[in-house]
Amino acid sequence: MNIGIAGTGYVGLVTGVCLSEAGHHVTCLDVSPEKIALMKSGKSPIYEPGLEEMMQRNQAAGRLTFTTEKTEAYRGKDILFIAVGTPEGENGHADLSFVKKVAEEIGDTIQDDAIVVTKSTVPVGTNDQVEAIIRERAASNIQVHAVSNPEFLREGNAIHDSFHGDRIVIGGHHQPAVDKVAECFSSFGIPIVKTDTKSAELIKYASNAFLATKISFINEIANICELTGANVEEVAEGMGLDKRIGSQFLKAGIGFGGSCFPKDTKALTTMSAEAGYEFRMLNAVLEVNELQHNKLLEKADAENAIEKGVKAAVLGLAFKPNTDDTRESPAIRLIEELQNRGADIIAYDPIATEKMKEVFPDLTYTDSLETALQDAETAFIITDWAQIKETDPSYFKEKMKRPVIFDGRNCFTVSDMKKHGIDYHSIGRG
Ligand code: UDX
Repeated sequence: MNIGIAGTGYVGLVTGVCLSEAGHHVTCLDVSPEKIALMKSGKSPIYEPGLEEMMQRNQAAGRLTFTTEKTEAYRGKDILFIAVGTPEGENGHADLSFVKKVAEEIGDTIQDDAIVVTKSTVPVGTNDQVEAIIRERAASNIQVHAVSNPEFLREGNAIHDSFHGDRIVIGGHHQPAVDKVAECFSSFGIPIVKTDTKSAELIKYASNAFLATKISFINEIANICELTGANVEEVAEGMGLDKRIGSQFLKAGIGFGGSCFPKDTKALTTMSAEAGYEFRMLNAVLEVNELQHNKLLEKADAENAIEKGVKAAVLGLAFKPNTDDTRESPAIRLIEELQNRGADIIAYDPIATEKMKEVFPDLTYTDSLETALQDAETAFIITDWAQIKETDPSYFKEKMKRPVIFDGRNCFTVSDMKKHGIDYHSIGRG
């Protein structure tokens, strides 16, 4: 099929690359000429394992092109995808301005009937609005059908998730359009769930909010473990073996971050309130996460570990491993508080330092774990990068001036760290 995609962020670019890998002809559109020039030269603007190679392969095969020209992206296509951002707007609302702008541009540009698929995470009812906007602006003889196809990929695993996801959700009220979108994904071999438009839109929010709930739940269990002497990892294992519960997303830590869980959970509570329903549980999920972001700091304060001028290493800046994304990373709050207390901070991440410089331009950064640990008097583990969790405990002891470690991701066993003489504090393990 001939496919046009608006937006080349994590969702748009990965979708475009994977659809071209599946044999479709894909044209990706972005408003940024710099980004388009970069991608035309075979470079990915985001770090995602395996993406750049797959992108280059399909460009060379002539199946994947990049443009800033709307006519090139929107005309003569079987399906158009909208994959622009829906950042957090005012009062927890999803900001739909980019989605609506793309809908207007599609309406102004198309000359034939169009199937327009929204991949961006959008509140219930948005696809109907998208369809209305395009219809209003396109010529009256043009048929427009909006289809919802929410994205479930995880950053850092995006290529794998695209080809091996648990389901593909396609929602719409015009069956031939829904079937056409299903056909576009048929070679992926992933179960396809066809629903009405609004249910598809809500599936995305409900899924993300449920996963966020699982994380906040296990984090509260971790807090109880700390007060009672139980071990959250053993509790999670014992719970997770029950198939009704499942073992995934039961890893206690310093709380969730990223571009989706915090934003989508807030958007769902706002959406619910506007529909006249108070989603009580989700308010608590968000509150627990806020408190959890402070956990390492609380522990460090209890140990008097952050006196003025102390050399503090922040290990990991990305909100999770295998991505350079630092949005809503628990590292942000920690760094702010360490700065307030006058700590001498050195921040380490294998790839996310450039992104964090946008938040803290004047911080000292390194992409060498050794440099970060050298003479440090305390270290905070924020991201469970392999480079960090596969480090031998003796290395911390050898490099640090005072081996005091606060680990927000439970990267090491308590007994191992103790054996190596490290003053080690982790989450929910007594
Ligand atoms: C998430 C959803 O998983 C994905 O389906 C959706 O499309 C986008 O949002 P992502 O934000 O990329 O994906 O990362 P994910 O791996 O889900 O992790 C989110 C956050 O939860 C991270 O901060 C991670 O550290 C945290 N997390 C995850 C935990 O604290 N414990 C867990 O058990 C799992």
